[in-house]
Amino acid sequence: MNKPLAVLILAAGQGTRMKSALPKVLHKVANRPMIGHALAAAQALKPERVVAVIGPGMESVADSVAPVPTVVQALQRGTGDAVMAARGALNGFAGDVLVLYGDTPLTSSETLAKLLAERQRVDAAVAVIGMRPDEPGAYGRLVLGKDGTLDAIVEAKDASDEQRKITLCNSGVMAIDGKHLWSLLDAVGNSNAKHEYYLTDIVGIARSRGLACAAIEASVEEMMGVNSRAELAEAEAVMQRRLRARHMAEGVTFTAPETVFLSADTELGRDCVVGPFVVFGPEVSIGEGVEIPAFCHLAGAKVGDRAILGPFARLRPGAELAEGVHIGNFVEVKNAKLATGVKANHLAYLGDASVGEGTNIGAGTITCNYDGVDKHRTEIGKDVFVGTNSSLVAPVTVGDGAMIAAGSVITDNVPADALALGRGRQVVKEGRAGAWKAQKRAAKAAKKKR
Ligand code: UD1
Ligand code: MG
Repeated sequence: MNKPLAVLILAAGQGTRMKSALPKVLHKVANRPMIGHALAAAQALKPERVVAVIGPGMESVADSVAPVPTVVQALQRGTGDAVMAARGALNGFAGDVLVLYGDTPLTSSETLAKLLAERQRVDAAVAVIGMRPDEPGAYGRLVLGKDGTLDAIVEAKDASDEQRKITLCNSGVMAIDGKHLWSLLDAVGNSNAKHEYYLTDIVGIARSRGLACAAIEASVEEMMGVNSRAELAEAEAVMQRRLRARHMAEGVTFTAPETVFLSADTELGRDCVVGPFVVFGPEVSIGEGVEIPAFCHLAGAKVGDRAILGPFARLRPGAELAEGVHIGNFVEVKNAKLATGVKANHLAYLGDASVGEGTNIGAGTITCNYDGVDKHRTEIGKDVFVGTNSSLVAPVTVGDGAMIAAGSVITDNVPADALALGRGRQVVKEGRAGAWKAQKRAAKAAKKKR
């Protein structure tokens, strides 16, 4: 039986090495703030409570995690002090307390579940996730006893030469038995190299009280923390590889997976075929059997089954394409609903519009949605034929079955089944071209003779 769970996400650190006006944990990996990844992994464990610890002035972080509550750690006096800041928020809670860092976006909920299981299995006061980075450097070291259980965590700055040789490092992720947490933390002091209250000290304190502690190991790839833009890019690369693998495992074809960029929340149905260099921004949901050839860019869009997009199509927020819609090259759709079977195959802009079933939008059609001050809507009915290079000046409606002549500028509503022409009438002057050319040639010849 799993115990009730509370999760603390530590995010009060400044992240100075990011050299950014944005708090570190709001930098994005796969279009989701890093703290959002930590939260998602935590939520998958169905915790009873989740609390994020933030620094003063980090309202943007609080907004980003809402409705998850936050507590403010007034001064950054170390990870132990950060957990202490959440004492009030966890008042009366006696289950498992899982501590995560907001800048560690790659940890899976499966690994967190393993940690909790291990803590419960050996009834440890504290269980931690260890890792073996190529360069243990500044990481805390996990000191194991003869029986292989955890004796202490020593911070690199406080470690002896012998301890610094230990390759098993502290990832920072920790599961603590809630009934011991506060009494252990109360015993943590700050007489160490950094004069900080180290959360890691609770391991040694628990051992000195005869309580068990445990460690499990996970890959560095999963446990890496992000401290710089270079590490952010590394985390992005790892996450992209994972997302591609996940979609392929679920039945999506990527012709050149390494060139496709996904968001953490991208949804792709079975048998979608995604060509090279396709970018999925946030909030994209694609049905089954959709073809997305090379160089499409999608964000905030919903696409129905068996639609065909691009190459070079752009779907922007609010684009809703029903089943079997065809969107061709250099077609941009924004805040527009396209019903079943709509075709817009070349060079068009459909913004703030609705297009009815079976309607054909000719090449070069533009919905003129902006009058310089306000945006307006274009409503196009079913089975309409919009001739090439038409401008539909919104607000305007085109009724079912209507036809719009090529090159029209449509400023008035078009009733159902009507033909609308909005262009200058063609004038033909018989023989005029020949006469004009002859005259030109004669003038040229006369000039040469002189
Ligand atoms: C910590 C661990 C170390 C581990 C390493 C893994 C301690 C004492 N050390 O070291 O053993 O190997 O992480 O990356 O825990 N934070 C606060 N308030 C604070 C201080 C930190 O909220 O006062 C948050 C930070 O925002 C960050 C996390 O806690 O998310 C870790 O803090 P950081 O200063 O990076 O700890 P390290 O020195 O790297
Ligand atoms: Mg750190």
